Order: sequence, then C-alpha cells, then structure tokens
Amino acid sequence: MHTQVAIVGAGPAGLLLGHLLHLAGIDNVIVERHDRRYAEERIRAGVLEQGTIDTLDEAGVGERMHREGLPHEGIELLFDRKRHRIDLNALSGGRAIVVYGQHEVVKDLIAARAESGQALLWEASEVAIHGLDGERPTVTCLHAGERVEIACDYIAGCDGFHGICRPSIPEGALKVFDRIYPFAWLGILAEAEPSSHELVYANHERGFALFSMRSEKVTRLYLQCEPDEDIGNWSDDRIWAELHTRLETDDGWKVNEGPIVQKGITPMRSFVCEPMQYGRLFLAGDSAHIVPPTGAKGMNLAVADVRVLSKALIAHYTTHDDAKLKAYSDTCLKRVWRAEHYSWWMTSMLHRFPESTPFMDRVQRSELAYVTSSEAGGRVVAENYVGLPFSE
Ligand code: APR
Ligand code: PHB
Repeated sequence: MHTQVAIVGAGPAGLLLGHLLHLAGIDNVIVERHDRRYAEERIRAGVLEQGTIDTLDEAGVGERMHREGLPHEGIELLFDRKRHRIDLNALSGGRAIVVYGQHEVVKDLIAARAESGQALLWEASEVAIHGLDGERPTVTCLHAGERVEIACDYIAGCDGFHGICRPSIPEGALKVFDRIYPFAWLGILAEAEPSSHELVYANHERGFALFSMRSEKVTRLYLQCEPDEDIGNWSDDRIWAELHTRLETDDGWKVNEGPIVQKGITPMRSFVCEPMQYGRLFLAGDSAHIVPPTGAKGMNLAVADVRVLSKALIAHYTTHDDAKLKAYSDTCLKRVWRAEHYSWWMTSMLHRFPESTPFMDRVQRSELAYVTSSEAGGRVVAENYVGLPFSE
C-alpha cells in the first residue's frame, strides 16, 4: 500500500488530520488499534475552545456540534460555599466555548471519513513504524489477518500517550518534561438534568469537585480522589454524598441526582516531549503532550497541533515549501507550554495537595478571591480558558 501521509491513531488528532488532508487532496491512510465502537463510545472531556469550534467549522464537520452542543459564556469558581462567575465572553473580547463531548466530535469525524472513502484500518495490531530517518518511511501492521505495509512520505504519530510512535524515536533525541500529581479524578456521567447552566469548579477542604454536563438531560461530575483509587470503593451513594458536600453553597444550589451510567478514574499528569518531530515522523496531540483536565485543554491542543501540521503538509505538497514543516515543533510548543502552564495553574489553585500547609491553603484562597474579584485576574482565567487565537 502507498500513501502520502500515514496516520497512526484515530482519536481526535488523527481523524481531524486525515480529514483536513483529504479536503486538500492529500492521500492518507489511518491505522487504529481499536474498533470503531470503542472510538465512538470512549467518554473523555467535552469543552471546545473557540479556535477548535472554528477549525471544525472550516473543516465542514461542525454542523451537529452547533445543533447539539451547549454554548457557554461563563464558568463559576466555588470556594467558601459561594459561587463566583467568570464572564468568559466579556473578559476575552467576545470569545466563548461549546460543551460537546469529545466522543461526539470523534463520531462526526468518523462519519466524514467514511464519506471521503479514504482508508481507515480499524483493529490493526502489531503496529510499528520504520525508516524515520530516510525518505520513504513505512507503517506495518496486522489487519484482518493480513500483514500490511504502508509506504509513505510522512508519518503522523496521533496515537495518544500510550502509543508506539513517540517510543519509536531513538533514545536521546527527545527531551521529556513530566509532572505527576498526587491525586486523580473520579468522573461520572449521570442521567440527571444539569442544575446549573454553567460549569462549576470547586475548591473544598475535602478536595476538588467539578460540575459539568453533556446535554440538557446528562450531568458530568468529577471528584478529586487518591491517585491509586479503587473505583470499587465508591458506591453510588458515597459518590453523591461526597459531591453534595464539596459542591454545597450557602444559596442552596444543589446537584441533581440521577442514575449513574458511567464511572471512571482519570490520572493527572503534565507531560511534554521536545521536539514534537523526528525525521519524517510528526507527533500530534496526546502522543506529544498531556495536560491535567482542569484547564479543559487536552483535545483543544490536539486540534491546534493538527491545524499547524495540516497547513505545513499542504504547503509541502502544493508549493514545495518546507518552512512550515521545519517550524512545526516550535510553532506547536509555544501554544503547548501556554496550556501546560494554565492547566498546572488551575490545578494548583483548585486542588488539595497532601503536602499543603495552612499557609499554602490561605495563599490558595487569596488567589481564588483575586481572580474572582479583579478584572485583571478574571481576564487571566478567561482568555486562557477560551484559548488564545491562532497566529494564522
Ligand atoms: N496503533 C494504532 N493506534 C493506536 C496505537 C497503536 N499502537 N496506540 C494507540 N492508538 C490509538 C488509540 O486507540 C486512540 O484511538 O490512538 C488513538 C489516540 O487517541 P487519543 O488518546 O484520543 O489522543 P489524541 O487524538 O491525541 O486526542 C487528544 O484525547 O486524551 C484525550 O485529553 C485528551 O482530549 C484529548 C485528546
Ligand atoms: C467535562 O465536561 O468532561 C470537563 C469539563 C471541564 C473540564 C474537564 C472536563 O475542565
């Protein structure tokens, strides 16, 4: 098999890259380890920044997002039993977010892929990449009982944090920056009408909690928990009791309960590898970087990488200009590090750290009071949350 760009991984990064290249007439093949159902049903985060919304629109895959997604113009920070609104729209020059599950974005992109007729090999095993230093790299795998070899010009490593692309880069060629947090998030989806129109991020003495949603009938909730938490220890009753405690307010606002249809634990880490490229391999999305979910940046960063990579590949194929491919890693890393800082900062401001001291608790509270009372402070939260504009 021959193609121009071989893409490893059919998450948001791989699927969107495949679609943007297809729209520009660039042939590509996607190789994915799991089946279609797994990709479409895996519950992940759900906040789309303005730039992500614009990119999906430009790619012609934003129609259902606008129809079913929930536009939000603010978020709330809860501490000392009070909710404080951050007006995202007013503080960011009119930008906003849409709450729309990542797996819904994935479904829309898979539908576009099916329509394009370009190859997507589901359930590929033994995926490996070769010849990154040369002019003709290859991707090999086992698919439907057959050995497949895909010869290509470039490989896009969109296979997430646990994929094979980043580890295929020779040791010593990458620098890794890593931070593991001493807690995780326990997340649930509940069939309950959201009791607020906006997301609520809570700092409570028992730990962080987040109120979010997926639709007018489904609430998404998270609790800070131990990093090695056993989900078996969390009965539905215990989860609701803890959520009510951490999200309790003086004005009597309460989370609505309903049947819990999904439960999971999300580890919290920050991770960046530099550069995001080696020879003919370009890393995009979680394969190159991870952020803790507090800033809602994960999928948005993946989309931003792919936007840069698609433009660089299009420049290569249409005008033989490789300047953007050469600059790919540096261009992406500027936004990546902004998001790394923001996600780390929001995480630090909102969670309980085991090593915290009474002094640090007071400092944390003072910071929350500042960002919710000063316009300058609110702007820092808002303009990063909605995402900085793309430079092109
Ligand atoms: N071969 C083929 N596919 C693979 C392999 C492999 N060896 N390893 C992993 N994959 C696939 C996974 O099954 C998954 O479908 O790569 C895909 C990677 O998708 P994501 O993990 O969703 O990563 P990405 O597309 O970069 O999207 C980033 O995901 O983790 C969230 O918060 C993050 O929202 C962000 C988004
Ligand atoms: C979610 O709805 O899943 C969500 C929202 C905001 C976050 C993280 C996750 O910061």
